Amino acid sequence: MAGRTDFLKEKKGGPDQGRMMVRGGNHVHGTIVVPGDKSISHRSVILGGIAEGTTRIEGFLQSDDCLNTLKAFQSLGVSVNRPEGSVLLLESPGFRGLKEPQDVLDFGNSGTAVRLMCGVLAGSSFFSVLTGDQSLRTRPMARVTDPLKRMGAHIDGPEMGKRLPLAIRGVGLSGINHFNSHKSAQVKSAILLAGLNATGPTIVEEPVATRDHTERMIPVFGGSIRRDGQTSTVQPSRLKGCNIRVPGDFSSAAFFIVLGLLTPGSNLRLEGVGLNPTRTALITVLNAMGARSIQVTPSTPDSVEGEPYGTLDIGFSELTGIDVPLEWIPNMIDEIPILAVAAAFARGTTRIRGAAELRVKESDRLRGISEALSAVGIRVKEFPDGLAIEGQGPKPRISGAVVQSLNDHRIAMSMAVLGTRLPAEEQIAILGTDYISTSFPGFTKLFSQVVS
Ligand code: S3P
Repeated sequence: MAGRTDFLKEKKGGPDQGRMMVRGGNHVHGTIVVPGDKSISHRSVILGGIAEGTTRIEGFLQSDDCLNTLKAFQSLGVSVNRPEGSVLLLESPGFRGLKEPQDVLDFGNSGTAVRLMCGVLAGSSFFSVLTGDQSLRTRPMARVTDPLKRMGAHIDGPEMGKRLPLAIRGVGLSGINHFNSHKSAQVKSAILLAGLNATGPTIVEEPVATRDHTERMIPVFGGSIRRDGQTSTVQPSRLKGCNIRVPGDFSSAAFFIVLGLLTPGSNLRLEGVGLNPTRTALITVLNAMGARSIQVTPSTPDSVEGEPYGTLDIGFSELTGIDVPLEWIPNMIDEIPILAVAAAFARGTTRIRGAAELRVKESDRLRGISEALSAVGIRVKEFPDGLAIEGQGPKPRISGAVVQSLNDHRIAMSMAVLGTRLPAEEQIAILGTDYISTSFPGFTKLFSQVVS
């Protein structure tokens, strides 16, 4: 099949590589389209990779994380082509036709990719070894490997499979009933994906609804899943290739939402942004902090393959600190670094608790954001499960600094937004910015397009 494959290039840079300088005293205006949703892009390749026939994915996010998922499926015998722009064509023999990979599958920095792929590979008919970069090799895997072992999976690795690298010998799996105590969409999705190829039903119950992209996408591929409140039951299913359109990533839009809110006189439009309600709690929190200038216009028709999307118009607004309700945390787990930046410009203290999961993300995000905000002059108290940020109002007494992103894309982009609000003669240097490309390739270009 004709098509380009040159986009499957190796990642450049590495730990502590890349530096971004941002000067204060800017104007913000313009219209942008943020790149495709990372969570939905991973799932489109995973479900397309195990579905028989052709899957056409439009708007696929070509970030390092998603390209690692794509490369893994190439190693399993799925052919990948890009006939035009952000369109991908996958041609798969179906789950039972996948072949044993000849080398280790390296998922780089991506927790979503490796955890979801554990669910897929556990029920395969072959052997595979999964690893990742320095950060991913320290992240907890037992939350996925333990329930998969209860389904019958053969998984081994350091401390019996608590961390990468993991060796998986594919076997026939049986459905289980799992309570998602980590409130993790990755765990839920890994088990539901395993359930597609298990015998009998597989049930996942959640204490709070986490992002539900897997549940929304399985039926698009012809799979059988029933949702009843916060319980999802998947039946063994043979998937068929289909067409998927990926909306813009709300988590990427979040940096621009806060940029617009914090900048006096701003006028920013974000088009084609995914508005899945399990992802948009940041808007709820910002509104509760007094934001009066986030206008959400859902598109018509209101969803692409089950995923709602629309346009966001953002202007300046003054904010007041709040205690963020615990139940909102899972639906804004990736937006807490940028919420912390917004909180620095609010009047009064913002308390974020119930977010201990942030300590085991791409970095220890509670420490990272606390140190970065402290470096510019914002007082932050760190708790085991959260932060209290002493906001100084719209014109804080902050100054330029050199800050570490801890090689964490979301800390790097959050601090870039903060940099724009420094006094005009000040600037911030953010270190380790190469990792921005794990989720948001082209961030710097879009950022300089709207900041002047
Ligand atoms: C994701 C789930 C979240 C999120 C991550 C993407 C997903 O992780 O932080 O960026 O696509 O399922 P957890 O499931 O660990 O909360």
